[in-house]
Amino acid sequence: MRHILDAIIAEASSEEFANLSVPESYRGVHVLAAEQEMFAGVASADKDPRQSLHVDQVPTPELAPDEVYLAVMASSINFNTVWTSIFEPVSTFGPLKRLARESEWAKRHDRPYQVVGSDASGVVVKVGSAVRNWKPGDRVTVHCNHVDDQDPSAHNDSMLATNQRIWGYETNFGGLADLAVVKANQLMPKPAHLTWEEAAVSALCNSTSYRMLVGGNGARMKQGDVVLIWGATGGIGAYAAQYV
Ligand SMILES: NC(=O)c1ccc[n+]([C@@H]2O[C@H](COP(=O)([O-])OP(=O)(O)OC[C@H]3O[C@@H](n4cnc5c(N)ncnc54)[C@H](OP(=O)(O)O)[C@@H]3O)[C@@H](O)[C@H]2O)c1
Repeated sequence: MRHILDAIIAEASSEEFANLSVPESYRGVHVLAAEQEMFAGVASADKDPRQSLHVDQVPTPELAPDEVYLAVMASSINFNTVWTSIFEPVSTFGPLKRLARESEWAKRHDRPYQVVGSDASGVVVKVGSAVRNWKPGDRVTVHCNHVDDQDPSAHNDSMLATNQRIWGYETNFGGLADLAVVKANQLMPKPAHLTWEEAAVSALCNSTSYRMLVGGNGARMKQGDVVLIWGATGGIGAYAAQYV
């Protein structure tokens, strides 16, 4: 990965990025299917993610036509990463098996391990053959809404689509890693005035707050409306407080 980081620091051109080799394995934070029963009988409060999360090399999956490899510069921990790591309310290896039944490309997600993480900022390293709007070297932030754009039920409100998923929670190859596999339609330009870390913490929590309070498929709150924000000091709540 060092050569990719060097290219990012040197602000290499898109062509230079496109010529970089993608490593056959990368470092990722992952849980193991073989350990999904490790907390059986243990009270929730005593389930310690430090026992279930591993930081080690995993094989780099092949890239689907609508995906990019992302060199991750920053990521964040959300509650769904906590849920995955304590296998509550269910182990996320079940959703990965269901995803794997959807298509040839989806089969890649069913592995003995799951790389977690549902937020990221970073640099596009390679793009799949069907990607149009992004190129190697682009600095981006990632939202976690993993949508099948060939599913009509996703067209009105993608969050309610029959097979909508959260990347890095109900999919593999998430953001708490040196490399991530991301659908091109999850990418947004990284705001130039934000640090990598700032760009990597907003998408999941902020999008959730916006959808619930402001969005057309949510409460359609207007400035001046009176709302109750429960947990206003948390990730979602802190964004919600700024919308009111
Ligand atoms: N469906 C979605 O799209 C989506 C997306 C993101 C998150 N979520 C879910 O939303 C929840 C919040 O996520 P988050 O990232 O904002 O978590 P967070 O940063 O940990 O915030 C949790 C907030 O809840 C407060 N809280 C905890 N226990 C409480 C209680 N008994 N009564 C009242 N307030 C309590 C906390 O206050 P203190 O700090 O004082 O303890 C904190 O303000 C999680 O369950 C997460 O899984 C859903």
